[in-house]
Amino acid sequence: MAADSSKPSVLIFGGLNTCSRALAAFLVPIDGEPLVAYLRIVDKYSVHPATTYIGPDFAQVLKKPEVEYRQANLTVAATIESAFAPPEDKSDFDYVFDFTGEVRSDRGEMIQIGNTFAVARLLGLEAAKRKVKAFVRIQQPFYETSSKHPASEKEDIKPVETMGIWWHETLRTLASIENLNLVILRIGFVYGPYVDFGNIISAITVASVYGYLQKPMKSMWSPGKNPTNTVHIDDVAGGAWACAKWIANVGRKAANEAAGVPIPFHNDKSKVSEVEGIIPYDQKPAAPVFNLVDDSKTTLVSTGKTVSSFFGTTFEFFNVIETTVFKLMDDLEDINEHHVEGWTEMLVKSDPPITNTPISAYMDKYTLEKHVVGFDNSKIKELVGYKLLRPEFNHENIKEIVDKWKDQKLWPNVVKA
Ligand SMILES: *[C@@H]1O[C@H](CO)[C@@H](O)[C@H](O)[C@H]1NC(C)=O
Repeated sequence: MAADSSKPSVLIFGGLNTCSRALAAFLVPIDGEPLVAYLRIVDKYSVHPATTYIGPDFAQVLKKPEVEYRQANLTVAATIESAFAPPEDKSDFDYVFDFTGEVRSDRGEMIQIGNTFAVARLLGLEAAKRKVKAFVRIQQPFYETSSKHPASEKEDIKPVETMGIWWHETLRTLASIENLNLVILRIGFVYGPYVDFGNIISAITVASVYGYLQKPMKSMWSPGKNPTNTVHIDDVAGGAWACAKWIANVGRKAANEAAGVPIPFHNDKSKVSEVEGIIPYDQKPAAPVFNLVDDSKTTLVSTGKTVSSFFGTTFEFFNVIETTVFKLMDDLEDINEHHVEGWTEMLVKSDPPITNTPISAYMDKYTLEKHVVGFDNSKIKELVGYKLLRPEFNHENIKEIVDKWKDQKLWPNVVKA
């Protein structure tokens, strides 16, 4: 089949461990017409053999004639430059999806600067130089918003931890690149089939353990209106695609007029002179930003109830004394001991036993901490005309996720201890 010039050529950078496999499957479906003329995915992982979990769908997508995978070290400018060069018989890349960035909160500041900030900056600079029609940056929900109302894109919300600070700094630098056809897509907590990172799969896994043990799942955080808004991975893909088409149509200037918001400084001022590429702290470059969360208005309590009831147990809160003890227990291993042991037992007792799975019941510091992330999703619906594919986080979605893991023999088939 000849390349279809009416369809864009697309580059996806990073995110093999987060959201880019789903985007690739959305752009080049296993059964159906591709939305793109050509797709190149570039990340640090190897896919043959896979050095990160890639799932069965993505393995199929990689076999498609329109799809190329390139393993590359994105911290090297020359590597990025060559990744933007189209194959000889193909036209220039039209859309770029920047799904890069370190999502592990236990990685230090140097890693965040080198793998999150610096990589995205190089991508943005190269994309602007090549005048790509769309550059969509995924922003993970490493923020704290007010618990009183969902944050609009205009609100100045606080990035959390070192990870959040550098993910946010990345947005300022990208926003400052003139003529970059940038859209920032600020997502909620992602869940979906074959998603093995983030707080939601953690909650689902731990809930399954308490269901198995027939004990209530308990939270360390008092019941309050703590939003922890969610988004299905299909909507991350669909939303990113919608945003790319939108800015490709209008360009950065008009996009900024319609949807631009200033991105304020939230870093340590000393970093400005220490780290190459940070813009002065008193500048607030504007860029089009869209929140993307589902309509469930998920909170800590609603997530807890949805996941625990799915596995036939309840969601409760520790009493004050227990909570105090937990907060004193600085050792993550102690806090995790109970459900990690339970999960291991489930894996061993599964028929046949499961010896290797990317899913862990271990909750890291970030997952255990209290999060308040509530986003207003009306802007992307109104301006971009985006319609959510999965508006609700519910049992049906959890069932789909767990069933798919079970099909892969990566989720135990035991029910009760
Ligand atoms: C990627 O390149 C950087 C800069 O040359 C180097 O420090 C780093 O070790 C490389 N990473 C890998 C995984 O090869």
